[in-house]
Amino acid sequence: MDHATLRQHFYRQLTNHYVQGELQSLYHWCVAEIEGWGRAEAYTRNEQEVIPAKRMHWEEVIERLKRYEPVQYIFGKAYFHGLMLSVDASVLIPRPETEELVAMMLKDHASAQKRVLDVGTGSGCIALALKHARNNWLVEGVDVSSAALLTARGNASDLGLDVAFRESDVRDEVDFEGFDVIISNPPYIPTRVQESIDKNVLQYEPHLALFAPENDPHYFLRRVAEISEKSGVIEVYMESHATEEEALVADLKSVWSGSIEVKHDLAGRPRFLRLEKSE
Ligand SMILES: C[S@@+](CC[C@H](N)C(=O)[O-])C[C@H]1O[C@@H](n2cnc3c(N)ncnc32)[C@H](O)[C@@H]1O
Repeated sequence: MDHATLRQHFYRQLTNHYVQGELQSLYHWCVAEIEGWGRAEAYTRNEQEVIPAKRMHWEEVIERLKRYEPVQYIFGKAYFHGLMLSVDASVLIPRPETEELVAMMLKDHASAQKRVLDVGTGSGCIALALKHARNNWLVEGVDVSSAALLTARGNASDLGLDVAFRESDVRDEVDFEGFDVIISNPPYIPTRVQESIDKNVLQYEPHLALFAPENDPHYFLRRVAEISEKSGVIEVYMESHATEEEALVADLKSVWSGSIEVKHDLAGRPRFLRLEKSE
């Protein structure tokens, strides 16, 4: 089988599972990972025969994609803010919206020394991207999941970034003392929307990372704000669900005495919160 035929086979096998744009992106992931080729090579090597061992790998990946397994888990990696991170089923796959949150914070803070804590760090993506961009900052990450922390520490070590990760459960009486800024993308999806979530997310990504407690979708956002308030933190950046803006701000006002600003993502949805105290 040559590569042109393999490409047709890939598209035909998966056409009922993914829309065209997704299929193209998946094909490029596979070509890069299995063949080690860039986008251009994928189309200029049409007549080249697929070697048998790689053919088997392609078939295995096609079967996993048919089961909606995220391509990032299949190949064990994800890209975030210019960094390549290892990911596995213990961590959320870093999202483009979260890159926006990081970019927002970096834009607000040029280079002055800061002590930053990433709460619910998962793969460590936020903490590592901040440290990569601002090497003079002290950056730490916390998470309740020891499996996620192993992945985050592995990423820090692979990238040579000095970020400490430790276990902490924000449901407990913890504090964020000693940090100037808290950044968090906590679990915020209301359980009531569970049925509308894509299969690849619902079946494979950790529910611990996705869902807020039943009947209290703002629980973690409110809790991060509350602990920040008690700890004397002056600034908090958070990602949130796009549809809960007014109720969420009202809820946060019950625990945060400073200003609360809602910021929009590139698609114009209210996705981010910036909480600030005047010093
Ligand atoms: C939406 S994920 C975000 C992961 C990563 N920061 C990112 O942006 O891709 C939320 C993270 O919060 C963690 N988490 C859930 N409950 C927690 C708790 N009670 N205390 C601390 N972290 C928690 C999950 O393990 C998960 O890694």
